[in-house]
Amino acid sequence: MEKDDVVSAMVFLIIPLIMRPILASGDPVFTFCKTDSGNYTLNSPFESNLKLLLESLPSNTAVTGFYDNSTVEDPKVYAQALCRGDVNSTVCRDCTKNASQEILKQCKTEDAMIWFELCQVRYSMQNFFSLMIYTGKYPDQNYLEKNLSINPVRFDKVLTYLIDNISSEAAIDPSKRLFATGEIKFSRKETIYGLVQCTRGISESSCHNCLVDALGDLHACCDSRQGGIIVSANCNVRFQLYQFYNASSVFLTYPSSKGPKLKIWMVVVIACIPISVIAVVVGSCAVCHGRNKRTQRDDEKSQKTLLHELTSHTGVAITQDGELVSAEELSFMDLSTIVAATDNFSDSNKLGQGGFGTVYKGVLADGKEVAVKRLSRRSWQGLEELKNEVILIAKLQHRNLVKLLGCGIEGEEKLLVYEFMPNRSLDFFIFDSEKRIELNWKTCYNIIAGIARGLLYLHEDSRLKIIHRDLKPSNVLLDDEMEAKISDFGMARIFGENQYSANTRRIVGTYGYMAPEYAMEGLFSVKSDVFSFGVILLEIISGKKNSGFYLTEHAQTLLAYAWRLWNEGKELEFVDPLLMESCPTTEVLKCMHIGLLCVQEDPADRPTISYVLVLLGNESASLPHPKQPLFVVARVIQTDHIPTTNLSVNHLTVSSLSPR
Ligand SMILES: *[C@@H]1O[C@H](CO)[C@@H](O)[C@H](O)[C@H]1NC(C)=O
Ligand SMILES: *[C@@H]1O[C@H](CO)[C@@H](O)[C@H](O)[C@H]1NC(C)=O
Ligand SMILES: *[C@@H]1O[C@H](CO)[C@@H](O)[C@H](O)[C@H]1NC(C)=O
Ligand SMILES: *[C@@H]1O[C@H](CO)[C@@H](O)[C@H](O)[C@H]1NC(C)=O
Ligand SMILES: *[C@@H]1O[C@H](CO)[C@@H](O)[C@H](O)[C@H]1NC(C)=O
Ligand SMILES: *[C@@H]1O[C@H](CO)[C@@H](O)[C@H](O)[C@H]1NC(C)=O
Ligand SMILES: *[C@@H]1O[C@H](CO)[C@@H](O)[C@H](O)[C@H]1NC(C)=O
Repeated sequence: MEKDDVVSAMVFLIIPLIMRPILASGDPVFTFCKTDSGNYTLNSPFESNLKLLLESLPSNTAVTGFYDNSTVEDPKVYAQALCRGDVNSTVCRDCTKNASQEILKQCKTEDAMIWFELCQVRYSMQNFFSLMIYTGKYPDQNYLEKNLSINPVRFDKVLTYLIDNISSEAAIDPSKRLFATGEIKFSRKETIYGLVQCTRGISESSCHNCLVDALGDLHACCDSRQGGIIVSANCNVRFQLYQFYNASSVFLTYPSSKGPKLKIWMVVVIACIPISVIAVVVGSCAVCHGRNKRTQRDDEKSQKTLLHELTSHTGVAITQDGELVSAEELSFMDLSTIVAATDNFSDSNKLGQGGFGTVYKGVLADGKEVAVKRLSRRSWQGLEELKNEVILIAKLQHRNLVKLLGCGIEGEEKLLVYEFMPNRSLDFFIFDSEKRIELNWKTCYNIIAGIARGLLYLHEDSRLKIIHRDLKPSNVLLDDEMEAKISDFGMARIFGENQYSANTRRIVGTYGYMAPEYAMEGLFSVKSDVFSFGVILLEIISGKKNSGFYLTEHAQTLLAYAWRLWNEGKELEFVDPLLMESCPTTEVLKCMHIGLLCVQEDPADRPTISYVLVLLGNESASLPHPKQPLFVVARVIQTDHIPTTNLSVNHLTVSSLSPR
């Protein structure tokens, strides 16, 4: 099998979207044929397998609205179909049949996906069934719905409230269809109708994560419009001002002015309070009233895991070990402080929305600025991330890692309080044509070295081996002196002393920065972080975004582009002209060389981060010749024009893959 075929399963991660202005059930909403690799030949075994499999979809999908299967014989073909949760079996069969025929007609590729209003069909040479990565895209400007004529601010709040609620409902859907609809009045005359759905076969939390991300994108494209839709390989979100579905939906009411209540507030100050107290705090939240059995069970399960991990991991670290966060560095906070600091989580204090929740700016009474991350409400998700952050950050203290000042849990409310970073995050600088001018080579170099030092600390110096797993420019925060600080440890994993790699079924992370072995096989190690570092390095040097790069016509991926220029001896063309003015050529080319070494396909070929630092600091080091990276390519269908300002609204997590 060709290398390019291997990555074809990942291609849905970047889907340039063409959307009709009005969704009509007869036509596909969007078709994606992966034209770059693997066109199958007519009358080939692949084609006959694919046809057989697609023919089996309509009747099988009609039974429950979802179906996936693969052929037994080589070449293997995997296919999946999903009908919208509100359609009956007749309509489902009909739509899946149309979609299967249409995808055969429109695509001759070994990978493709098609969305209709009422169903979607996807097939691939690769097994994508358990792969959940957020891929959502929103329509091109030309295809967006009309602007609202009235009160977009209130509309936005009401819409968020609705989609938040039904996203949670879909994830815990007792019928396991991962589908929910809801309606909410937004003025006396107008009602917003919302619908969310995930493909089945992914976990509750993956579904919820996908929908939370989709909501972020929905804001970016459509929050002052009369309707909007985000489609992703694993989840879809849509709203309209008319009822566009046939399900009996929950009727919601937007709570009046006061906002969510926070009654008992507990702040965990990591080093001051023994770990058992954390356990008590977490435990006490289990007794929250008015929750159904299911959530309680989930909570208990998470709490058990949390307790276990806290004691097994932090037992050592909580001793008077020099590495611990010292008491003076943590300030006590209580609820009223946080509520006052963030103006009761007011929208004007909102810094951004990401995969795990919303981040607010806060100012404490003494004038100290903080960033408060309010995690998404469902406990099975928030607790997982909180656990990670608390465990890890409690033990980590380094100038290139963001500092956690405290955390709080109450019922479904979970908050993390960090030091505030006035210069936001790296993506905000490198992908913005205006902000980029503020970066000279010296600053860039310092940022690169800062990220490397932060990573080195995680990988080798902190006594625990920690794999970050979601390193990307939006997770590199910048302080007032433009010093890089790695943030967001929600996905990080602690490795045992003799553990070199691990495998996970749940692949989390951000496409474009994930090493191929991780994205495809769930295999992660320090070398997968090194890969992400390499991508960031190449992005800094070129000023181009890896995941957004597909949207220009002349090149495939940033990695392929870098590799091509490198081999043609045209490295300097790769360097952003803005940087060229301020940098010694040898230094920037060395960085590009290091970047290429870091993104090599075989993890064993990639340098360790400590070696990267050696190379960075040594002017005359002779570097090995890099091997060709694994290119992930996708062809442009149509460029969307998304304003760059949407790119980095969030200091702590930006999980959107918005193209430039
Ligand atoms: C597949 O077919 C399309 C359209 O016919 C063509 O543009 C593309 O280059 C082909 N891909 C390969 C890898 O041959
Ligand atoms: C999957 O397809 C094969 C034929 O390719 C069939 O024998 C099998 O029953 C199908 N599995 C399911 C669960 O439908
Ligand atoms: C909803 O029901 C109406 C009336 O029965 C029907 O015309 C329409 O096609 C249905 N829509 C869907 C999506 O099933
Ligand atoms: C399924 O829904 C369609 C459109 O809403 C309707 O015309 C048809 O009668 C329904 N079929 C069944 C079996 O309920
Ligand atoms: C399927 O295609 C036929 C013919 O184009 C169309 O009339 C019908 O509405 C389509 N059905 C669905 C569910 O898309
Ligand atoms: C719609 O709203 C957007 C953002 O608020 C604005 O940029 C655009 O010009 C508006 N379009 C129209 C047609 O009013
Ligand atoms: C969604 O709203 C309904 C109606 O107000 C409420 O009963 C339900 O608990 C909410 N669900 C979530 C997950 O917030």
